[in-house]
Amino acid sequence: MNILLLGSGGREHALAWKLAQSPLCETLYAAPGNPGIAEQAELVTLDVTDHAAVVAFCEAKRIGLVVIGPEAPLVDGLADTLRGAGFAVFGPSRQAAQLEGSKGFTKDLCARANIPTAGYERVTSEAAGLAALARFGAPVVIKADGLAAGKGVTVAMTMAEAEEAVREIFSGRFGEAGAEAVVEEFLEGEEASFFALTDGSTIIPFGSAQDHKRVGDGDTGPNTGGMGAYSPAPVLTPMLEGEVLAKIVAPTVRAMADEGMPYSGVLYAGLMLTAEGPKLIEYNARFGDPECQVLMMRLESDLAEILLACAENKLSACQQPVFSSDTALTVVMAAEGYPGTPRKGGRIDGIPAAEHDGAKVFHAGTALGIDGVLTADGGRVLNVTARGASVRAAQAKAYAAVDAIRFPEGFCRRDIGWREIEREASKG
Ligand code: AMP
Ligand code: GLY
Repeated sequence: MNILLLGSGGREHALAWKLAQSPLCETLYAAPGNPGIAEQAELVTLDVTDHAAVVAFCEAKRIGLVVIGPEAPLVDGLADTLRGAGFAVFGPSRQAAQLEGSKGFTKDLCARANIPTAGYERVTSEAAGLAALARFGAPVVIKADGLAAGKGVTVAMTMAEAEEAVREIFSGRFGEAGAEAVVEEFLEGEEASFFALTDGSTIIPFGSAQDHKRVGDGDTGPNTGGMGAYSPAPVLTPMLEGEVLAKIVAPTVRAMADEGMPYSGVLYAGLMLTAEGPKLIEYNARFGDPECQVLMMRLESDLAEILLACAENKLSACQQPVFSSDTALTVVMAAEGYPGTPRKGGRIDGIPAAEHDGAKVFHAGTALGIDGVLTADGGRVLNVTARGASVRAAQAKAYAAVDAIRFPEGFCRRDIGWREIEREASKG
């Protein structure tokens, strides 16, 4: 079968790398892709907001499966259009993607289905927002309702910060995403991510991971899309995973189906492991980036077969996916300036030398010049990924690969995996 993969980041490079290994995959197309993805796929130019053009492409190339990587086309209903045209799609419908696209929607669903999450209020004006803050007190969390490219959340430690965040949201800075906001209780604990595939009825656990959101070592500095990750996340013990599945993921999937908007695709649960048990921070309607890279490094099953089964509502007949018991760890190499304005054009050399001993370098934001020179073309540029028997072993391999890459205008954190390495060390 021919497969079309939509997206251009490190997540999509990891998906392309795994899809291309499948015996089911004849031609893999990627739109727009990137120079790394070009090693596995034929790159095509397609405007994903032009649904008719995507359908026409799928018809012309007899596409058997469309895999939608990022959230924006999902929230925009591309999966609905493609399904309407008869294509198998991995990714939720517009209505189901509200689990990521509207924080208020998700909070209300959690309230109806009794899913553990932070207490909240939805507000639609600055005055209502400020009044809600007075009821919660600091610390408190303020979130723009819609997609805000990861920038719509403020964890405010003081009332002054909280009030500033509310004013900013209703100042129009986030456009439509900021016409509404959620004010919520501050949760304390450690964060972890849990992934599940579902076709609307069957649910298959699909691994765990921990991300590193702050730009600097020791979890300092501004928030980013993620500076590194590892999988599995041992902090999410089998017992906790069972609890997350039973109390958070399964009731969500059931409620979405009962309410006439069955969720199909990957459900990515961002969790806070609190003293009272795991609580949902947020859902994403797609794989995490860079969490997907470490999941794909561990996945031993045929990805195309699983995603197709999910798209065709046949997950119940699908074998449980097999993941290596190894840890996979990825280090994000970013361009100077990130998460502000990243410097474009920095030269990158040494990837072939870095890819030894099983390490893999996924491209996240690169461009290839006509001279064959690879350069930085985004904030997060490379995801240097390796596997090992422990987090420490995977980390050592990943940084050995990082050190083989020459990217003078780039930087990375040197401590990806630190929490777990400290725990491994204290266990002896
Ligand atoms: P997001 O950009 O939506 O992934 O959220 C950003 C980050 O804000 C999360 O990863 C958490 O670290 C933090 N956060 C969100 N909600 C809460 C909450 N209720 N309590 C504490 N931290 C939160
Ligand atoms: N790494 C966080 C995310 O993909 O949302």
